[in-house]
Amino acid sequence: MVDRRNKPMALATTPGLPPQPQVHFSHGNSRVIAVLPTGDSVEVLLYGATVTSWKDRFGTERLWRSDAAKLDGSKPVRGGIPLVFPVFGTSPDHAATAKLPQHGFARTSRWEFLGKSSSESAGASDSSVKLDFGLSSNTLDDNTKALWPYTFSIIYSVTLTPEHLGTSIVITNDGDQPIEFQVLMHTYLRISDITKIQVTGLEGSDYVDKVDAAQAKKQSGAITIAGETDRVYSPATDPTKPVIITEEGETVFNIVRDNLKDVVVWNPWTDKAAGMGDFEPKDGFKNMICIEAGSVKGWVTLDPSDAFEGAQTISD
Ligand code: BG6
Repeated sequence: MVDRRNKPMALATTPGLPPQPQVHFSHGNSRVIAVLPTGDSVEVLLYGATVTSWKDRFGTERLWRSDAAKLDGSKPVRGGIPLVFPVFGTSPDHAATAKLPQHGFARTSRWEFLGKSSSESAGASDSSVKLDFGLSSNTLDDNTKALWPYTFSIIYSVTLTPEHLGTSIVITNDGDQPIEFQVLMHTYLRISDITKIQVTGLEGSDYVDKVDAAQAKKQSGAITIAGETDRVYSPATDPTKPVIITEEGETVFNIVRDNLKDVVVWNPWTDKAAGMGDFEPKDGFKNMICIEAGSVKGWVTLDPSDAFEGAQTISD
């Protein structure tokens, strides 16, 4: 190898300062990428404030994202963590959200990057970074504003540490009439083999089984997946209890919720995956499970000036 004088350094560092998280834009300022000194990284698309990638220090991707996912703002991202707001699915009988598209407009709106805050310390292993994103009635496009004419502001924060990825949301009613909404962090987790996982932490919870005529059921024991699965656990019992995914007995994900009472468990399996144009590879359902923390049964009512806060923390 030729050793060049004046060759660029891999990382610009100031002598004496501990290594710091790096944050930069890419793809024409449409994505924000944060990298910790440990090598852990996260990427967020301003379209939807969708977390599109979360990699550990070894470069291993932890979220599932379809090979055919659109990242150009033409449709919601099939994978990562799209944000569902202010309606889960569609709700033709709920006047305020009846006109909105499936899963609302948060995942299809362009968010603003509000900035980063990072904490550095002597060791690389405990530095972290928080990226803040904003969406409000002032920044919504006119078409969406007409469909949902409320005055609101949202701050969505994505926090990366070497141990976990956190997403948290603060929704404020800035208007003079109550707002009713649902919210959900539609997290696609990457796993090795859907037939080998178990989801625990939802035992004893009531759920609606969307693939079995919307019947009301109660979860007994761990969840295993052997076909199309679409369940709304509400309320997911004991909100302090993590939802844990194990694969052949080993914990691969641990999800802790804060003020998000419901959990949706979704896997499209063969037929549904085959019918989704943006789902590739078609057998990709074997490598994903959506564990979606939110508040989707009934409506959260927010009085003028009130704020709702909810969060999830994902680790292994
Ligand atoms: C889940 C729903 O949250 O999202 C499913 O429970 C739905 O019913 C899935 O199919 C995917 O929705 P979309 O709009 O991203 O295709």
